[in-house]
Amino acid sequence: MSIELLPTLPAGPAATAFRLALTYDDVLLVPRRSSVRSRSEVSTSSRLTRRLTLAAPVVAANMETVTEAPMAIAMARAGGLGVIHRFLPVAHQAAMVERVKRAENLIIRDPYRIGEDATVGEARGLMREKGVRSLLVVGRDDGRLAGILTARDLRLDPADDEPIARYATRRDQLVTAPPDVTLEEARLTLHRHRIEKLPLIDADGVPVGLVTVQDLVALRERPHASKDVRGRLLVGAAIGVRGDYLERAAALIDAGVDVLVLDIAHGHAEHALAALERLRGDHPDIDLVAGNVATAAGADDLCRAGADAVKVGVGPGSACTTRIVAGVGVPQLTAVMDAVAACRPHDVPVIADGGIREPGDMAKAIAAGAECVMVGNLLAGTDESPGTVVTRGGRKVKVYRGMASAAATQRRMAAEGIEPPAGTLFASVRSAGADVDLAGHAVPEGVEATVPYRESATAIVANLVGGLRSSMSYADARTVAEFHENAEFVRITQAGLLESRPHDLDL
Ligand code: XMP
Repeated sequence: MSIELLPTLPAGPAATAFRLALTYDDVLLVPRRSSVRSRSEVSTSSRLTRRLTLAAPVVAANMETVTEAPMAIAMARAGGLGVIHRFLPVAHQAAMVERVKRAENLIIRDPYRIGEDATVGEARGLMREKGVRSLLVVGRDDGRLAGILTARDLRLDPADDEPIARYATRRDQLVTAPPDVTLEEARLTLHRHRIEKLPLIDADGVPVGLVTVQDLVALRERPHASKDVRGRLLVGAAIGVRGDYLERAAALIDAGVDVLVLDIAHGHAEHALAALERLRGDHPDIDLVAGNVATAAGADDLCRAGADAVKVGVGPGSACTTRIVAGVGVPQLTAVMDAVAACRPHDVPVIADGGIREPGDMAKAIAAGAECVMVGNLLAGTDESPGTVVTRGGRKVKVYRGMASAAATQRRMAAEGIEPPAGTLFASVRSAGADVDLAGHAVPEGVEATVPYRESATAIVANLVGGLRSSMSYADARTVAEFHENAEFVRITQAGLLESRPHDLDL
């Protein structure tokens, strides 16, 4: 990769010695002679962390208005990843992780069960709580398989107080398989009997697993989905660096989380590095993403403290006001390039977080050496984000809230039962002993706004990845590694930027 006209001036007090820093709109990628004949020859597969790879290197931001379980499921199915935010009780966040891990499986180990004398209401409640469409019915005393109850069995809407025994398929009508069945044998059995679910039972008749047609179809239809070795969708979850962060990390790991994202506004704070070292020591095998930083020194320190990926971005996010409030930040392209240079010797990937408005921005971030991008705004308006679609001024919109905005802080305080005295909202956070991240944001560094309703997250990911693929083909790159090697930027002027956008048209 090379960049023209980017002077590397020595740091110093004189105004003339200020380094120039650029962002996505300041540059364009130069096309080069390319042997790529079709975009289908291009692989966008890229590392999320030192160990995990995504076919679509897009990560849904760990924000309240972006990522909970439905977004994480959609992102992983699309080949990306969702990071569940941390502004909710530990048990709720862990339950969301569990929900994603259960959404798809090759073989569901430890399937949800219900006692044979339960009522329809209890079964409905459990299905709703766990987000599943079937329950194995087991003997109250011996735990043996007694039947199976699916959402289809309840289609005619029986009353809540009726016994499930009336609606479940009984054991003697069920086809089952032993615990060590292969996936191919299970597929053939499901096909031969034209059934949807195959419970696996041990020698005593106790259910120990379940194979579903739905999972096998998903495997065939979405070969690029982000999955673990057991065929479960990958999911990330965010933690802070104080308060309950160790307990939270342990609960998330127990729930099966694949990546922990240690996320604070200033990831180069010493307490953030100490927290990262502590987590690395306690959980040597879990993938740890750490951030946010915007400098080579910050990235280098995070790598040394044990990060498996470094998240880069101070102030580029669409709902961020850090640069306005604190006057702090580094334009994102330079921040990414500096971090990449520092991370490369450690073989640690960089995630470019914030400021991605168009596919071309993502292409520039990856060209600059990042291996994934994190996106908030673009995904906040989709069906999979939390919150409902509302109509404002005749347009369909959804709310998008910066995590350090006054509105987000107020909601968290309310959730924690902290009553701010009128007029002293943020001062009260510290005195109330709340999470120091809240105290650290005593002045809001984000805003709440609305974003256009955008339908499906899958379409957003496809659009971003389509742009990246196209960009790579202009750069004669079939892999992200080749793109890093071949990409060449030119710096442009305001006139160049005007020329780049649609112009002289009635749009
Ligand atoms: P986009 O541009 O996709 O960026 O909306 C998402 C990223 O923005 C960051 N973020 C914040 N930064 N104050 C900040 O300074 C905030 O209130 C805030 N909320 C989110 C975060 O890195 C996210 O991934």
